[in-house]
Amino acid sequence: MPPWTLYPPYKRKAYVYCLMILTIQIIYCLIILIAVPALISMEYYARQAKVSAAPSVPWMRQAVIYRLKQEVSALGHPAPVILELGSGWGTLAFAAANACPHAQIRGFEISPVPLYFARLKKWLGRYQNVTFYSQDFFDVNMGDAHIALAYLNLPLMDKLRIKFEDDLKPDSVVISNTFAVPGWRPCHEETIQNFIYTLKIYTYRVPHLQVQRSSN
Ligand SMILES: C[S@@+](CC[C@H](N)C(=O)[O-])C[C@H]1O[C@@H](n2cnc3c(N)ncnc32)[C@H](O)[C@@H]1O
Repeated sequence: MPPWTLYPPYKRKAYVYCLMILTIQIIYCLIILIAVPALISMEYYARQAKVSAAPSVPWMRQAVIYRLKQEVSALGHPAPVILELGSGWGTLAFAAANACPHAQIRGFEISPVPLYFARLKKWLGRYQNVTFYSQDFFDVNMGDAHIALAYLNLPLMDKLRIKFEDDLKPDSVVISNTFAVPGWRPCHEETIQNFIYTLKIYTYRVPHLQVQRSSN
């Protein structure tokens, strides 16, 4: 027998009302207990990484994926390794996983909240060809990668240039959303224009760069 049936009808209403208020308060508390630490964590890691976990806008993501598919088919590798440097919420990594089902997508992310969200989405979506690593991409050996994707900022791209030059093997490709790799000449550059702004997608090929660098 439900407990409120022990009370007279006018008290039953009050009882149910109190229960509703209590439930709403518990939900509020849970939201605050989860949301506040999550926001603090995201802010902390955004400051550490000097870039927020904001995902790329859909039309830029589409253009990056289009470019990626072209590079993957030009590569002709049965299972190319694609690195997503700073995979955030996994938006680009999942789009790449769908577009290139035979590729192995490796996302690297230091911010735990977007990282666990991406892992949960991978688990729910049963994505087989994407893995998210809780790792600073500067500590990753990129030696076996065929393609590296990035949507970061200029200082990070500048720092990554040295890492790319040290790690990436000839023929590997870097596709960067919006931010160029300072000092490198792209082998392909695409301008994406919409009603608000104009952005670019830069593609670099490592042998091209090595030839260019040794002649400087
Ligand atoms: C602008 S978001 C890019 C999100 C995703 N790549 C996309 O295109 O939708 C940049 C992400 O890079 C991550 N990041 C920055 N530096 C990093 C590092 N050294 N190692 C791993 N992740 C890093 C940040 O935490 C952030 O989530």
